[in-house]
Amino acid sequence: MTDAQAFLAGLVTTVALLGGVIVSGLREARRAHIPLVLCFFASLALTIYYAERMGRALDLEAAGWITPVHLGLAKGTTVAYVLPVATGFLALSSERWKARHKVLAWLLVALTLLTVGTGAWMALSAPPLDPAGR
Ligand code: HEM
Repeated sequence: MTDAQAFLAGLVTTVALLGGVIVSGLREARRAHIPLVLCFFASLALTIYYAERMGRALDLEAAGWITPVHLGLAKGTTVAYVLPVATGFLALSSERWKARHKVLAWLLVALTLLTVGTGAWMALSAPPLDPAGR
């Protein structure tokens, strides 16, 4: 399997798991929601690993302004995941935190989709580097 194939398989799995996280959250199915969150993060980490490997073969600077925008969004979104995780644990025992968790969870879903979209845009705009890495 090439890096690009591994990345695409990871991306499809991650998006499907995010769908599972959303559905289980909306159904208040905690026994499914929390394991799905853990699988989602594991799949996301693997997908980022393959995205970085794939990116080494591309001239990302040549893609222009979309590259710093995507990389900034990707870092910000990764760090911001601490918000739904922290509020998710507090939501287990408090209605007030449940309401806050909802807002932050949806914000992170939106940021994740924006990150995937800008990442695809960046990768499709970047020409391949030659094998010598120039
Ligand atoms: C370990 C971390 C997490 C815990 C403990 C947790 C826990 C919860 C709880 C307690 C609820 C309310 C449903 C219920 O009463 O069972 C909920 C809802 C939800 N969670 Fe999480 N959650 C976590 C992480 C996440 C993440 C990372 C996301 C996605 C970014 C997410 C998305 C949602 C959504 C979309 C809902 C439904 C909100 C709505 O009603 O509109 N959760 N979660």
